[in-house]
Amino acid sequence: MDHGARPYRSVLYIPGSNARALDKARSLPTDAIIFDLEDAVAPDAKAQARQTLAQALGEGGYGKRAKIVRINALTTEWGVDDVRALADAGADAILLPKVNTAADVDHLADMVGPDLPVWVMMETPFCVFNAREIAAHRQVTGLVAGTNDLTKDLGCRTRPDRLPLMTALQMIVMAARAARGVVAIDGVYNRFRDGDGLKAECEQGRDLGFDGKTLIHPAQIEVTNTAFAPTQSEIDLAERQIAAYDEAQASGQGVAVVDGQIVENLHVVAARRTLAKAEAIADMAAE
Ligand code: COA
Ligand code: MG
Repeated sequence: MDHGARPYRSVLYIPGSNARALDKARSLPTDAIIFDLEDAVAPDAKAQARQTLAQALGEGGYGKRAKIVRINALTTEWGVDDVRALADAGADAILLPKVNTAADVDHLADMVGPDLPVWVMMETPFCVFNAREIAAHRQVTGLVAGTNDLTKDLGCRTRPDRLPLMTALQMIVMAARAARGVVAIDGVYNRFRDGDGLKAECEQGRDLGFDGKTLIHPAQIEVTNTAFAPTQSEIDLAERQIAAYDEAQASGQGVAVVDGQIVENLHVVAARRTLAKAEAIADMAAE
C-alpha cells in the first residue's frame, strides 16, 4: 500500500453494524473503506458488528477498494476481541484508534504478527507530538487525522478555515512524508449535506499534502474524488514539463522553461508523480 501506488482520495467510514451500508459500499466509487467497529458502533452492538463485518469481508465483492478495519482501542473491553475476530478476515490494514505512542502500535503488531499493515488514528495531542516516531514504525503504512477527537481534546473551536487544527494537520502530513511511503488521510467533514463546504475543505486538505479525505456519507465521494485527483490541465502541464526537460537535457542544458516557469529535476519528479497518480486513478476506475 505504498504512497502513490494506488489512490486514496476517498476513504469512506462504514459502521460495521450496518449490513445495508456494508452491501451498498460494494458499488460505491470510493478508493478505500474503513469498516468501523469503534465510534460508529454503539456498545450494545459491538459483538454483532464483529460478526456482520467478518461475514461481509468473507463474502467479498469490494473490488479494488482498499479494505481497512478500525478496531476499538486495545485498552477497551472490545479491542482484543476485535483483533481476534478480524485479523484474518482479509483486510488490507487494521486501523488503531486512540494511539498515543509507537509502543501502542507495537502492542497491536505483537497480536497480529508482522504481515498485516497498521494504520493509525492521529487524534490525541500526545499522538501528534509523537507523529514522527509513529509514522516511522515498521508496520505503519497510513495515518488518519481524527479531527473530531482532536477538536474535543484541544478544546478548540470548529472553524471553516480549521486554523486551530493547522499545526496538527501539518505535523501529520510531515510525519507521513518523513517516513516515506506512508499514506496521510484528512479528517471528516461533519456537515455531510453541505457539498460546497466539503469541496473547500477537500481542497484545503489536498493543498496541505493529504492523499485523500475520510468520509461519512456516500454523497461526499464524488466531490472528494475530484478534489484529490490531478486536473486535466495539471496532467497536460506535467507532460509538457517532462518533455521540455528531456529536450533541454538532450541539448546539454540542466533546466527548461514551461509557461514562464523554471523546470528543474525536482519539478520533473513532481510531474511524474502527478502522472502516476492519474494512472492509478484510471486503473481504479477500470474494472
Ligand atoms: N457507507 C455506506 N453507505 C452509507 C453510509 C456509509 N457511511 N451512510 C449512509 N449510507 C447509505 C444508507 O445506508 C442509505 O442506503 P439505502 O439508500 O440503500 O438505504 C443511503 O446511503 C442514504 O443514506 P441516508 O439516509 O442519506 O443517511 P442516513 O441518515 O441513513 O445516515 C449517517 C447518516 C451519518 C448516520 C450515516 O451516513 C453514517 O452512519 N455514516 C458513517 C458514520 C461513521 O462511520 N462514523 C465514524 C467515523 S466519523
Ligand atoms: Mg476518533
